[in-house]
Amino acid sequence: MFFYIPELTLWHLHSLSSPGSYLAGLPSWPATPVLCAEVVLHSLGVIAIILQLHSTLTVFLQAVMCNPACNVLVTGASGLLGRAVCAVLRKAGHAVKGLAFSRAGPGLIKCDLTDLEAVRLVIEKEKPNFIIHTAAQRFPDVVETQYEETRILNIKSAENIASLAHQIKCKMIHISTDYVFDGTSPPYKVGDKCNPLSKYGLTKLESEEAVLAAAPDACVLRIPVLYGPVERLEESAVTCLLNILKSREPKAVSHHDQRCPAHVRDIAHILADMIALIAKGQNLSGIYQWSGREKLTKYEMTLTMARVFSLPHDHVTPSMDASPLRPYDPEMDVSRLTELGISHHTKFEEAIKECLSAWL
Ligand SMILES: NC(=O)c1ccc[n+]([C@@H]2O[C@H](COP(=O)([O-])OP(=O)(O)OC[C@H]3O[C@@H](n4cnc5c(N)ncnc54)[C@H](OP(=O)(O)O)[C@@H]3O)[C@@H](O)[C@H]2O)c1
Repeated sequence: MFFYIPELTLWHLHSLSSPGSYLAGLPSWPATPVLCAEVVLHSLGVIAIILQLHSTLTVFLQAVMCNPACNVLVTGASGLLGRAVCAVLRKAGHAVKGLAFSRAGPGLIKCDLTDLEAVRLVIEKEKPNFIIHTAAQRFPDVVETQYEETRILNIKSAENIASLAHQIKCKMIHISTDYVFDGTSPPYKVGDKCNPLSKYGLTKLESEEAVLAAAPDACVLRIPVLYGPVERLEESAVTCLLNILKSREPKAVSHHDQRCPAHVRDIAHILADMIALIAKGQNLSGIYQWSGREKLTKYEMTLTMARVFSLPHDHVTPSMDASPLRPYDPEMDVSRLTELGISHHTKFEEAIKECLSAWL
């Protein structure tokens, strides 16, 4: 509510700052009816200012209490998920600093996370309340061939960040994956047995364990295959399917593995909600999981894209081949988040239209 009585407000502001002038401006008693009316109007003006200040203060306090601004450090800020996390958290009013490496550009801090000392210096300088650790090598085929380097990035650097965060009482949210499961008995609850099929999944499982050992109050958020606004179609295992549609080359696409894709903006909103609850004093720690609310094979995703963009798809055929490195159906139970009132899912068809329109 906003009260505004133009003539009186300025005068009363002046009167409030120097009460003597207010008293001097009051009519002396006995008053004429005109002077009485003036006193009543003056008093109304004072009440209006007090109410105005009260209402402004209430709105301000509500904003601060509902969503206290935090200093958030985001690793992997140049990546598919990190970009969305930075954008959503900034919009929510947080002070966000993003770390990147090979793609560090304007507005990003360059830091090689495998240089443990460099990371310590950045964290000590930035003094974040939250670290969202998204950076990782997440291409399973690359991990198979560059296993030792990946272990340093995916496990050792995550453990280092967790331990530094713990020392300065900063909350870390570490991003993990549904690839920690073998995909044979979905939906997976948080405590279900993990059995990664790939070296990538193994590094992420070991990173979860290392993070929670170094910072027992940290959170791990396991997420499914991602898509969103991409810099290259190959950036996401979902958006790259558009290349297959566009090429018109005959191609078999998996109709075997079941996936629950998530838009990066939905994951970013989930993280923003987690931060808001923690900042308000709620005790969140340990493992949380999110899977998109629609289950699709890559073949079905391709057909959805073809329908949305009216593209021919008769060159694309469904393949029922299983991959030894990829889980059949790693859908995860999301109840630990939904019980907190946290749930964000944009319908695949709508979201894919929004993400890919510029790539036709
Ligand atoms: N994408 C998916 O489908 C998917 C699915 C499930 C879980 N996840 C998990 O989600 C997280 C984010 O994935 P994403 O798709 O956003 O990854 P991404 O697009 O490949 O981005 C990886 C990020 O890590 C940074 N990085 C790599 N090496 C680094 C180093 N030595 N020092 C500092 N930063 C380094 C990259 O920075 P530069 O590019 O600037 O070098 C980039 O910002 C990962 O933890 C991944 O395991 C992803």
